[in-house]
Amino acid sequence: MAASSVCFSAARPAHALRPRARRGASSTAGPRSRVVRACAGGVVPEGSKVLVVGATGGVGQLVVAKLLEAGYRVRAAARSAERAREAFGDADATSDDRLEIVSADLRDFDGLLASRICENVDAIVSCVGTTAFPSARWKDGNGPEPTDYVSVKNLVGCVTNARSSGTTDLARFVLVSSVGVDRQNEMPFLILNLFGVLKNKKKGEDAVIASGVPYTILRPGRLTDGPYTSYDINTLVRATSGERRAVEVEKGDSLTPEETSRIVVADAVVASLRLPSARVSGAYCLGTKEGDGPKDDLGKWEEVFAKANAR
Ligand SMILES: NC(=O)c1ccc[n+]([C@@H]2O[C@H](COP(=O)([O-])OP(=O)(O)OC[C@H]3O[C@@H](n4cnc5c(N)ncnc54)[C@H](OP(=O)(O)O)[C@@H]3O)[C@@H](O)[C@H]2O)c1
Repeated sequence: MAASSVCFSAARPAHALRPRARRGASSTAGPRSRVVRACAGGVVPEGSKVLVVGATGGVGQLVVAKLLEAGYRVRAAARSAERAREAFGDADATSDDRLEIVSADLRDFDGLLASRICENVDAIVSCVGTTAFPSARWKDGNGPEPTDYVSVKNLVGCVTNARSSGTTDLARFVLVSSVGVDRQNEMPFLILNLFGVLKNKKKGEDAVIASGVPYTILRPGRLTDGPYTSYDINTLVRATSGERRAVEVEKGDSLTPEETSRIVVADAVVASLRLPSARVSGAYCLGTKEGDGPKDDLGKWEEVFAKANAR
C-alpha cells in the first residue's frame, strides 16, 4: 500500500504550507510551524518537508525534482542559492511554496545554527561530496574531509540542537555515501582512498549513525547519468538512464558495481523515505545494470530492500 494512503493524517494540505522564504535569504528563520510527524513505522509521508543538502549536485538536483514530483515539500540547500535557482527557479513548486531555496556552506557550523536550516524539517537527505582526487572543486579548502566528514558532522550537530529545542522531530536521515567505505585497504578502493575520500565518508556515516536519528545510508558505485546543470525540474524528472535501470542492492559493503545511475540513486532516496524506517535501516550498496528497474514503484523497491535485508 502506498505510504501516503497509510499516513494521510500526517500530511498537511498544500494550502497549509509555510510562506516561502525570501529569495536569496540564507536564514530559514520564520514562524516555527508544526512539523509533519512521521507515521508509525517511521514512514516519511508525502507533504513532509525534506531538507536536501548538496541540492545543486548531480544526485541532489534529481532528488529535489523527484521529491517534488512525489508530493514532498523541499528545502534545497546549496552554497550558491543563485545556482540552485538556476536549476530549479522556474519550477511551479517555487510559486506554491513547495520549494524553498536556502544558501549554506556546511563547513560553517555557527552559520548553519544561525540559519536554522534543520528546523521544521521532517527528514534530511545529504548528497554532499567532492571529487576523490585533487581538482578545482577542492578550492578554498573544500576537499574530502571538509565535505564528506565535517559538513555531515555539522549537519548532525544542528539536528541535535534542533531536536533538543523541540524545533524538529526528524523521522529520517538519508546519506548518500559510497561503496568501499568498509574496504579502504582493498583494491580498487585503496586507490580511490589515496586522498581520504572513503575514510571521511565513513566518518560522516558514523556521525549520522551516532545521532540516534533513524537513518538510511546509500552507497553507490561510480556514478553515471548527469550531472544535469541548469535544467528545470520537469527536465530533471524526465531524465532517464537508458537501459541500465535494473538495481543491485546489498546490505553493508559487499558489492562492487561497475556503475550506479544517479537517477536510480535519486529514486532509491525517495523510496527509502516512503518505506518504514525498519525496512531501510542501515547501509546499502547500490549498483545499476542493464534491465528494467523499480523506477518510482514503491512495491518494487520494498522487494529490493527486503531481499537485501534477508541476505
Ligand atoms: N562521482 C562518483 O562516481 C561517486 C561515486 C560514489 C559516491 N559518490 C557520492 O555520491 C554523492 C553525490 O554525488 P554527485 O556526483 O551527485 O555529487 P556532486 O555533483 O559533486 O555534488 C556535490 C554537492 O555537494 C555540495 N557541496 C560541496 N561542498 C559543500 C559545502 N562545503 N557546503 C555545502 N554544499 C557543498 C556541492 O555544492 P557546490 O555546487 O556549492 O559545490 C554539490 O551540490 C556524493 O556524496 C559523492 O561523493 C560519488
